Amino acid sequence: MSADSHKTFYLETFGCQMNVHDSEKVIGTLVHEGYKQVETVEQADLILYNTCSIRDKAEQKVFHRLADYKKLLAQGKKFGVLGCVAQQEGEKIFERAPHVSLVCGSASYRNLPEMLTQLEVGKREAPKPEARSLIRITGLDDRETDKCFETEFTARTNPHRGYITIIEGCDKFCAYCVVPYTRGKERSRTYESVLAEARQMADLGYTEIQLLGQNVNSYKDPAGKRSFAELLAAVGEVPGIRRVRFTTSHPRDFGRDIVDAIDAVPTLCDHVHLPVQSGSDRVLNAMQRLYTREQYLERIAWMRSAKRQISITSDIIVGFPGETEEDFAETLSLLDEVGYDAVFTFKYSPRPNTPSLALEDAIPDEEKARRLDVLMATQREIQIARYKKYIGTIIEVMVEGRNEARGQWIGRTSQNKTLNFTAPELATPKLGSYVPVKATASFPNSLVGEMVV
Ligand code: 5AD
Ligand code: SF4
Repeated sequence: MSADSHKTFYLETFGCQMNVHDSEKVIGTLVHEGYKQVETVEQADLILYNTCSIRDKAEQKVFHRLADYKKLLAQGKKFGVLGCVAQQEGEKIFERAPHVSLVCGSASYRNLPEMLTQLEVGKREAPKPEARSLIRITGLDDRETDKCFETEFTARTNPHRGYITIIEGCDKFCAYCVVPYTRGKERSRTYESVLAEARQMADLGYTEIQLLGQNVNSYKDPAGKRSFAELLAAVGEVPGIRRVRFTTSHPRDFGRDIVDAIDAVPTLCDHVHLPVQSGSDRVLNAMQRLYTREQYLERIAWMRSAKRQISITSDIIVGFPGETEEDFAETLSLLDEVGYDAVFTFKYSPRPNTPSLALEDAIPDEEKARRLDVLMATQREIQIARYKKYIGTIIEVMVEGRNEARGQWIGRTSQNKTLNFTAPELATPKLGSYVPVKATASFPNSLVGEMVV
């Protein structure tokens, strides 16, 4: 086989933005190692899945994918499982999918070049049991790592906006959540290395940066005393950067200084994603969320009293074990009280290792589905009312794409809303540019408008 045919890879990513960005780092690392990325499984010698295990459905996806392509093993292709399912299941993956030869958990990517070399050399050890694979690296040690996955080879897919990881792992241990077991303990990057990456991106022409972490609010500069709000403000002041976003925030660690920073630094986007999970104190307590409804609403009040109008979004889980009708009603009333601009809703899914796995009083799936429907319908009405208010206003958007079928440009507002718009033929906007758009109509999830020239 030619060197080239050995060195093509296909990578599919599941899950959150952390995973999307990890994939950009993995791609950069592989390309540096001499691999070439291809667009289809058929073209690839190495097929990789960067997986998510946050809910059971996400986890099942990867095993379906692996089963679908099992027959390609006969063509000499190799399969690798990366990410959270790899970290969680470890060597069990070789039993469930014996054609997999590489398992690399999300805390072990910095070992990838070495693992790939081993894979190429074909260090298959004992053929018995056949299920045992070439390389097995997941390991509890790596979950305890204090190292971040930093790479100079990140292959960002969008030339205008890009992610920077500032903190990895999570120490919160919410009762339902698998992340502390897959992503390991919290470790922050240094303030200086984050700023250096932001400056480098600005030099390359990026204008929007999204700071990433499972819990960005507990960021602590290991080399000094800088807080998350200070880091946020400093990134916002990097010349050339016009927008800075951050996700995800945990209400317990969300300080007023973040709202002050948003007020003080215009490049910081007026959007905060602050997942509440439930509106009931009883459920919040069972979830071990470490705040009450009242404390959560206090944070909302800080944002509502800011000089800028901050858009607030959330995640909500329905059907946590023991959630009563009254608990659920409190979640619905919280939606009304807060007035979110978007909510991501999930049915509770029991996950391995988590404390809530052992809880009784499981809610039947049909009931979870019913609550989900009610929740989404309630939120839809709230959004219809909220989005309507923008009609007639002029909003700056970053031009993100073009929808040819509709003859519209796709824009994103600082508040993270989609604003689709038309532009006069002679004033065609460039992708990645910022243009003013007058909103003329609204939907529950987007706005429509005309570019102002
Ligand atoms: N079941 C359902 N939803 C979950 N989430 C996290 N773990 C679970 C689970 N076991 C949701 C939370 C979190 C979002 C990323 O996923 O709402 O904020
Ligand atoms: Fe899924 Fe959580 Fe892993 Fe992201 S960190 S991919 S949400 S399990």
